[in-house]
Amino acid sequence: MNILILGGGGREHSLAWAVMQNPKCDKLIVAPGNAGIAQIAECASLKIENGTAVVNFCEANAIDFVIIGPEAPLAAGVADRLRDAGFLVFGPSKAAARLEASKSFTKEICDAAGAPTASYGHFTDAQSAKAHVRSMGAPIVVKADGLAAGKGVIIAETVAEAEAAIDDMFGGAFGCAGAEVVIEEFMTGEEASFFVLCDGETALPIGTAQDHKRAGEGDTGPNTGGMGAYSPAPILTDAVAEKALQQIIRPTLREMARRGTPYTGVLYAGLMIENGAPRLVEYNARFGDPECQVLMMRLGGQVLDLLQAAAEGRLADCRVNWAEDHAMTVVMAASGYPGTYEKGSEIKGLDRCAEDSFHMVFHAGTAEDKGRIVAAGGRVLNVTSRGDSLKEAAERCYAMVDKIDWPEGVYRRDIGWRALT
Ligand code: AMP
Ligand code: GLY
Repeated sequence: MNILILGGGGREHSLAWAVMQNPKCDKLIVAPGNAGIAQIAECASLKIENGTAVVNFCEANAIDFVIIGPEAPLAAGVADRLRDAGFLVFGPSKAAARLEASKSFTKEICDAAGAPTASYGHFTDAQSAKAHVRSMGAPIVVKADGLAAGKGVIIAETVAEAEAAIDDMFGGAFGCAGAEVVIEEFMTGEEASFFVLCDGETALPIGTAQDHKRAGEGDTGPNTGGMGAYSPAPILTDAVAEKALQQIIRPTLREMARRGTPYTGVLYAGLMIENGAPRLVEYNARFGDPECQVLMMRLGGQVLDLLQAAAEGRLADCRVNWAEDHAMTVVMAASGYPGTYEKGSEIKGLDRCAEDSFHMVFHAGTAEDKGRIVAAGGRVLNVTSRGDSLKEAAERCYAMVDKIDWPEGVYRRDIGWRALT
């Protein structure tokens, strides 16, 4: 099977690493890829949000299966273009990817499906949004409706803060994403992520994870794309997962199918869990980054069979082989991230890290420069490990981190603290 993976971050490196282990994979191309991916697969430069370019590339390279990593090509309808051209694709249609691309759409689906989530109002002008905030009081959550690169959510501690956020959003601070605003009840509880493969009808859970969004230790400092993650998430017990499937995921799939826009791909449900009851915070239409890295570490080569079954509508016949293991990933970022940071610093010591089914350094933002590996992004490396316990996985991760010689890099030493203490 000739496979194309779209994307070039740590998520796609881990997908490529897992897919390569499956004997069904004859040839793997990743577009655009990165310096780490280039060590295991062919990398190609391709405009991955341009459906015509991707279809032409697949035809020219006899691709049998396309796996779409990031949300941008999904929101641009690349999966639709590929399916129309007869290619097998892992990833939802543009219409189904609205579960990530529009927060008010997700709320509408939750209403229709009876799925537990925060109560909300949806507004297209500042005045009525502010009136709603004043009647509800604080704390309250103000969200830009569209894709805002993870930055469009303000948890307002006071009514004044919420009003300022509303002015910012309608004032264009988040571009088109803020032309509509969703205002939500503030939910308390502990957050965890639930990953479920979907083929339009069947939902197959493939793991749980928790990530650390804040830049600093103790979960302090600015929000980032994620500084580390671990799987499984202890709070997301089998009983909570079963409730989430019954009350949230399956009703969502039924409602999407009823509307003629069935969901196929991975559904990443962000859940708020309190007293054993899950409520939906948000959906994403793709794997999380860096959550994907810990899931791939645990699942290995079977992932290709599972993604293919999802794309072919055969999940009802599939089973996941679990090893009862734990995985952790520690993100090493360029100093300054998520603010401004330098590119081009050299990373040494990677050759001292073992790479096997228990240890992997996935590359997120790296490039090769005259035989050296250099930093080329904010999040640069995802040092990932697996063990019989989370403690063992953490020890293996940090032993690898300590071997990496990159003075310009920063990372958190406390990934997994909530589950380890
Ligand atoms: P989202 O982009 O919707 O995932 O929101 C980003 C983060 O904001 C989430 O991961 C939560 O930590 C927090 N958040 C979003 N909505 C709520 C809510 N209604 N109540 C409490 N926290 C929330
Ligand atoms: N790590 C969070 C995300 O991928 O959205």
